[in-house]
Amino acid sequence: MPSHLFSPFTLRGIEFKNRIVVSPMCQYSSVDGFANDWHLVNLGSRAVGGAGLVLSEAAAISPEGRITPHDLGIWSDEHVAGLKRITDFLTANGAVPGIQLAHAGRKASHNRPWEGGKGISPTEPGGWQTVAPSAVAFAETSPVPAALDEEGIQKIRADFREATHRALLAGFVVAEIHAAHGYLLHQFLSPISNQRTDQYGGSFDNRVRLLLDIVADVRAIWPADYPLFVRISATDWAEGGWTPDESVALSALLKDQGVDLIDCSSGGTVPRPTIPLGPGYQVPFAERIKRETGMPTGAVGLITTAEQAEAILAAGQADLILLARESLRDPYFPLHAAHTLGEDIPWPVQYERAKKV
Ligand SMILES: Cc1cc2nc3c(=O)[nH]c(=O)nc-3n(C[C@H](O)[C@H](O)[C@H](O)COP(=O)(O)O)c2cc1C
Repeated sequence: MPSHLFSPFTLRGIEFKNRIVVSPMCQYSSVDGFANDWHLVNLGSRAVGGAGLVLSEAAAISPEGRITPHDLGIWSDEHVAGLKRITDFLTANGAVPGIQLAHAGRKASHNRPWEGGKGISPTEPGGWQTVAPSAVAFAETSPVPAALDEEGIQKIRADFREATHRALLAGFVVAEIHAAHGYLLHQFLSPISNQRTDQYGGSFDNRVRLLLDIVADVRAIWPADYPLFVRISATDWAEGGWTPDESVALSALLKDQGVDLIDCSSGGTVPRPTIPLGPGYQVPFAERIKRETGMPTGAVGLITTAEQAEAILAAGQADLILLARESLRDPYFPLHAAHTLGEDIPWPVQYERAKKV
């Protein structure tokens, strides 16, 4: 019996050769948002390793949308050439190239994890004024954001539109809107970070409004045969926060708007939530959204073995498997997983003499 993990999957006009996706992972290794050799080798080696879809790290749609001064960016036409070099390589090596479009909102203007990951105030070198739905800081050590006014919100929409045009020029085939992990669009979804009293705050319909507007904008630009994903945090794991029920209701709306897959993560709104961490702990969210809305889903989070990934797909809990840390540990995970599952998949011709049979 052929495995589920190595069966192709089609969304719109695009076929993924298998179900293995490299999950977005910030590298904090850019200068002024530009992709460089690190990004090419990092993402490129995972295409060589056999992933069906390689998603870029969060690419900031504006300079102030960066988590750190070193984030990848797509706010300037000048960013396109460096990204195109990467998508050309991914495509030539059998992976579908995808990009995650992001704005960090109140979690912007921080230093890098290996520099302590602390907030940088606008008056310190490298810092800038952050923006968010409400002037509520993430944590005691985070900068206090300025609440976006209507003009600011329209600028965010325009930045997403322009970034989408550039992503297309850069050769990406999948676009993923980052609405998870407590970043800007998730900040609008969650009542903890969104305390607005206008048409963007309060009721569920108001809190999802900006994300739906941006999805409509992006979908109108992104070609009809190219898939559009949205990454959500299915729960805030916090009292008074965004809930799994709301995630199901949002996913149904996103499906109607032409989103093709929900990438189901969790958390990020509050600093230290209690999370029942364990293998595949977020898979039930992907399963529930898929079952209750009919929307294809991606499962992510502590998925580390071929057998585990295969079991998730075989049980119909998700359509794609996203790997983050396991993909860092083993860029060749798909080649190894095929061997484990008894699949004979082509290896890069340059590597054929090393293939296990
Ligand atoms: C180094 C690193 C950087 C990350 N950067 C991003 C990112 O840019 N966008 C995103 O949505 N998630 C990001 N994540 C989260 C991962 O995509 C993934 O959801 C999470 O690590 C859980 O999956 P895992 O258990 O396979 O690592 C990052 C994770 C790591 C380890």
